[in-house]
Amino acid sequence: MPLLIRLYLKKRLDYNSCKTGANNTMAIEKVEQQDNPKSNIISAKEESGQQAILVSRRIEERHRLFFKEIGHAYFEVDNRGKFSFYNDHFCEVMGHGNGELIDKSILQFLDKDDVEKVKSALKDIYETGNPLSDLEFQIKRKDGQKRQINTSISLNTDIENRKTGFRGIVRDISGRKKSEDQLNKTLRLESIGQLAAGIAHEINTPIQYVGDNIQFLKDSFGDILNLLNSALAYVKLTATGSSKEEAVSVIEEIMKSTDSDYLIDEIPRAIEQSINGLQRVSEIVKAMKQFCHPGKEDQQASDLNAAIKNVVTVAKNEWKYVADVVTDLDATLPLVPCRLGEINQVILNLIINAVDAIKDAIGKDGTGKGTIRITTLHDDSWAEIRVSDTGTGIPDEIRSKIFNSFFTTKEVGKGTGQGLAISHSIIVKKHGGTIDFETEIGKGTTMIVRIPLKGSYE
Ligand SMILES: Nc1ncnc2c1ncn2[C@@H]1O[C@H](COP(=O)(O)OP(=O)(O)OP(=O)(O)O)[C@@H](O)[C@H]1O
Ligand SMILES: [Mg+2]
Repeated sequence: MPLLIRLYLKKRLDYNSCKTGANNTMAIEKVEQQDNPKSNIISAKEESGQQAILVSRRIEERHRLFFKEIGHAYFEVDNRGKFSFYNDHFCEVMGHGNGELIDKSILQFLDKDDVEKVKSALKDIYETGNPLSDLEFQIKRKDGQKRQINTSISLNTDIENRKTGFRGIVRDISGRKKSEDQLNKTLRLESIGQLAAGIAHEINTPIQYVGDNIQFLKDSFGDILNLLNSALAYVKLTATGSSKEEAVSVIEEIMKSTDSDYLIDEIPRAIEQSINGLQRVSEIVKAMKQFCHPGKEDQQASDLNAAIKNVVTVAKNEWKYVADVVTDLDATLPLVPCRLGEINQVILNLIINAVDAIKDAIGKDGTGKGTIRITTLHDDSWAEIRVSDTGTGIPDEIRSKIFNSFFTTKEVGKGTGQGLAISHSIIVKKHGGTIDFETEIGKGTTMIVRIPLKGSYE
């Protein structure tokens, strides 16, 4: 007797067949529903004997063609992570011949830094039953090349809903990642270009007064030399028997003409000020060097507190007329595994956004300054950076959009709407972290960046 079951599948259609008794097979097929095409109806018929075998072969053939022609790499692994099925596209991505992957563990093809990340993703999917999209990691191909891939993985279950493993669609994003990295580099160079004018100004001020001081020291040296000569003359005069009074009056005359009291006060001050000025220049140059070339492009254990100080220094000309920057940096913050050049970029984006929000809050001819507070803290798993401002706050209606690419409320030519989108991609995709915010209209905004300490990065 035909058995018709209506199943509404949420995610993916399954064409399948299963045994229902001694010689009977249940054939399961999709049936289009006229009035609601989005609802996939599966009809299941109990078949028997030859007919069942035919139906089963037909379904298998469709299955095979479907995975051949979907144009995406597809794989299935069992509960131990061993490949049980994949299509030709997947073999191409992996660089292996057909049949070479069956029963091999997916973990043996991963970069060692990614093993834990993938294991924990599979564990989550297994426990929650929720699919995961945009999981990115590196695989090693048979020819030794590495490829960056993006996968969407979900749980595989059998007809009785038992968890049998995982299935995934794979995209090779090595090319896209390269261009993303290129874009990040370009944007970093662009912001360096934008900061350059401010940095030149920051360096110019101390250079100018160090120059003035050196000129002053040069002039004073003539006077000092005069004094010295008069002291020598005194010694000579007293040696040749001239009266002491005569010698003293000569020296007093010279002291008066050189304004020696003034020189005695000013020379040490000019020297001190010049040393400070040169120190300031060397700090700016060092910060700039760190900002432009923070080390290898790969992830490295990095001092985030030092990075924050550097960015604050190179961006000084952007904030100093608008806000005071206060830092409250956790001295016990461990080194954080990250790509520091990219984290520098994120901190800079957040500071510039804070400056813009404060400018808006104090108005164009506002006299008061705002405050930007940058804090770091950590627990066992995360390092956290908070950038708070006393700006306008973010209106309710745009809160869900601020991380979108090209979303900006700034005038044309000022904002491109890329800052937070890129920061989001750097923190979430590239470092396995989170970026979030708390905001209150009229009070300000706190952007909260969290980076995992265990280094779950690309
Ligand atoms: N600290 C903040 N306070 C108030 N609004 C903010 C803050 N940070 C971001 N926003 C809002 O989010 C929008 C998007 O920010 P994002 O940094 O992505 O782009 P942008 O600053 O407009 O341009 P870009 O950063 O590319 O120069 C901003 O235009 C602004 O409306
Ligand atoms: Mg911005």
